Amino acid sequence: MARVKLYKRMHEQITADDLCLAPLRGVTVRTFRNIHAKFFRAPDRAVSPFIATVSGIKIKPILLQDVNPALEQGVPLIPQVIGKDPVQLRTLLRAFKDLGYTCADLNAGCPWPFIIKKSRGAGLMRDERLFAAMLEAGCEEMPEGFSVKVRLGIDKPTLLAERMPLINSFPLREVAIHARTAKQMYEGTVLLDAFEQTYPLCKHPVVYNGDIRTAEDLQRLKARFPAITRWMIGRGLATNPFLIEDIRGTTQTPHALERLHGFLEAYLQACEVELHGPASVLGRMKELWSYLKDYFPEGEKLWNQIKICRTLDEYRRSVSLEKCQ
Ligand SMILES: Cc1cc2nc3c(=O)[nH]c(=O)nc-3n(C[C@H](O)[C@H](O)[C@H](O)COP(=O)(O)O)c2cc1C
Repeated sequence: MARVKLYKRMHEQITADDLCLAPLRGVTVRTFRNIHAKFFRAPDRAVSPFIATVSGIKIKPILLQDVNPALEQGVPLIPQVIGKDPVQLRTLLRAFKDLGYTCADLNAGCPWPFIIKKSRGAGLMRDERLFAAMLEAGCEEMPEGFSVKVRLGIDKPTLLAERMPLINSFPLREVAIHARTAKQMYEGTVLLDAFEQTYPLCKHPVVYNGDIRTAEDLQRLKARFPAITRWMIGRGLATNPFLIEDIRGTTQTPHALERLHGFLEAYLQACEVELHGPASVLGRMKELWSYLKDYFPEGEKLWNQIKICRTLDEYRRSVSLEKCQ
C-alpha cells in the first residue's frame, strides 16, 4: 500500500521552524520528494510544482499525477495551482478535494513575462479584481485551507504592500512571500528591507522564501525576523540535500558522500520507472545537477562533463563516487 501523507489543516501543528519545500517545477517533483525523504531528513511539508487550470469539467488524471495520494507521497503535500479563471480554479480544487486534500496553494508569484502578460502567476497581483476573484473562489472551495504564494511586486517591491488589505480580507491559511520582485526573476539579492516593511502588514501567517542555502542563512533570517516561524526552501535543498538535517543539527559531519551517491542512483532508477525513455531520465538528472553542482568544490568541472552526457552510462560514469568528491 502506498505511503500517503496529505497535508491536513486539522493536523497542523506549526510551532518553531516549520520547514517547507518550495515548488520547483521539474526538480521537486514527486519522485524527488520521495527518494530524498528516504535518504535524508525531509522537510516538514512541501508545496507541489504548479498544476495549471484547464477548461472543461473533468481534469485528466495525468495532470494530477504529481499530487496523487494513491501513488507514494513521502512528504506531506500541498498541491499548487496556477491560473486566472475562478471557474477553472474551482474545478481543479474540487479534483484535489476528491483526492482527499483540504489545502491548496495559489501561485501568484511566477515571474515569467509571458505568464505575467496573461495575468497568471505574479500577473494576478497586478490585476486586483482578478486576484480577488481567485482568492474568493479558493477560500470558498477550501475554507481555511487555501494559501497563496506571492512576490514583493512586479517591477518594484511595493505592490504586495498595496495588495495586503485585499489579501487580509480573505481567510487564508498562510501567505508565502518570495522576497524578490518578478523583474528580478530568481537572481540578484533578496530584498530583505522591503520584506521587513511588508510582512508585518499581513494578518495571516507568513512564510519567508528566498535564498536559504545554509543553516547559517536561516539563523540570520530568524534573528532578523523573530516573528516568522515558517520557512520555504527550494534551490538550497536541491543544491545541498543534507540541508534540512544541517538546519536541525542532526547531520553527521562530514556529510557522507556515499549517502548522496546512493540517493542519486536511487533517484535515477526511480526516474527510469516514472519517465518514458532514457532522454527524459537524463534531462531530469541534469536539471537536478544544475543545482547540485554547487555542492561540490569542483562542481563546475563535474557539471561540464554531466551537461554533455548523451547516455545514462556516460552519466553514471561522470558521477561515480571517485569523481564526486
Ligand atoms: C526551476 C524553478 C521552478 C520553479 N517552479 C515554481 C512553481 O512551480 N511554483 C512556484 O510557486 N514557484 C516556483 N519556483 C519558485 C520557487 O518556489 C522559489 O520561490 C524560488 O526558487 C526562491 O526560493 P529559493 O531561493 O529557496 O529557491 C520555481 C523556481 C525555480 C528556480
